[in-house]
Amino acid sequence: MTPDEIIRTFVEHHHRLGHSDAPESSLVPPPGDPVLFTTSGMHPLTPYLLGRPHPGGRRLVNVQRCLRTTDLDEVGDRTHLTVFQMLGSWSLGDYDIATSLRWGFDLLTDGYGIAPGKLHATVFGGDDHGLGPDETARATWTTLGVPVEALGADNWWSNGPTGPCGPDSEIFVWTGDDPPTGTPSGDDRWVEVWNHVQMRHHRHPDGRLTPLPLSSIDTGMGLERLEMVLRGDRSVFTGDGLRPWVGAVGDRWGLRGADLRVVADHLRSAVVVLGDGVRPGATGRGYVLRRLLRRALTVLWRDDPTRSLDELPLTGFDDTLRRFRQPVQPGPLRAVLRDEEHRFRGLLRRGRPLVERVRARGPLTEPDYHWLHDTHGLPRDLVDALLADAG
Ligand code: SER
Repeated sequence: MTPDEIIRTFVEHHHRLGHSDAPESSLVPPPGDPVLFTTSGMHPLTPYLLGRPHPGGRRLVNVQRCLRTTDLDEVGDRTHLTVFQMLGSWSLGDYDIATSLRWGFDLLTDGYGIAPGKLHATVFGGDDHGLGPDETARATWTTLGVPVEALGADNWWSNGPTGPCGPDSEIFVWTGDDPPTGTPSGDDRWVEVWNHVQMRHHRHPDGRLTPLPLSSIDTGMGLERLEMVLRGDRSVFTGDGLRPWVGAVGDRWGLRGADLRVVADHLRSAVVVLGDGVRPGATGRGYVLRRLLRRALTVLWRDDPTRSLDELPLTGFDDTLRRFRQPVQPGPLRAVLRDEEHRFRGLLRRGRPLVERVRARGPLTEPDYHWLHDTHGLPRDLVDALLADAG
């Protein structure tokens, strides 16, 4: 199945079950929202999970572009991406977790053709603060014939320190060549594809947990991961949405392995972030974008400092903007990359001798870092990269 077919199958399955389309949001949350980026499909729905009626009703479905900086250090492996698409479904105080899991099982097996024997689930096993184990989810999986493992904090989902949260049940698919063995917590050939969260609690700034007015369900499934699993593959980087970037970066500059994955992920992610109107800057979102680009350039320039993002064909830009439903022209975005690359080159040219001079006096102190930052505009991570470079 292509990603477009995977999306269509997901949405049609939920339409048949009475869900209506929830509009997709930008990666940039509205003003006043404390988070930098939309991190999950539920994020824009937070007011409705807290009790406000949604104009689309109590059953919703959509595809949402998401960005997770928490995964930034994991990017480079085969299954994590900075920007990805999340297939999501919601019951706003309507059906319960047992129904959500049963419908999810039907979609994975009948809709996507995954053999039931390749599935494993995890559920919340309770904690020390008086929250009991999720017996309903466990019993539902057992009735469906899916093995289930009860875990602790791994099966509690929240979108941040405060807000709606609750126990979740994660669904894993076996990606090994041999028949399935072990459990998700003990064998990473079990790959998580879908998470069903019972949004029943509200975490307050003082840490208190109170019941939400409605008991809701929030589910999310990463499109690129599902595509990987359906292809019987072990890497999201061979998927349709990554291929133009992996191709361009690999062919042009001969990168392989983790270097290739970091550069392909960061450039594709940067295009989506730019597509939602963010521009590189020294703080907040702009700084996340800047870090993505600088990290990609640092990898590229390690072997050959003459490499330039200007050499990239526009096909990757076009493909990504289409897949992420962003009606934006790629040309101006490439011009932003060009400017940012130019700025970074200048900064390195000026920064390298300065860092070397300071280092010659001994290990860098906090005042050294401040001086390099405040007087010369060299951020700490860049100084550290230059130090690492200098050996
Ligand atoms: N909010 C949950 C997640 O992002 C399920 O959608 O995993």
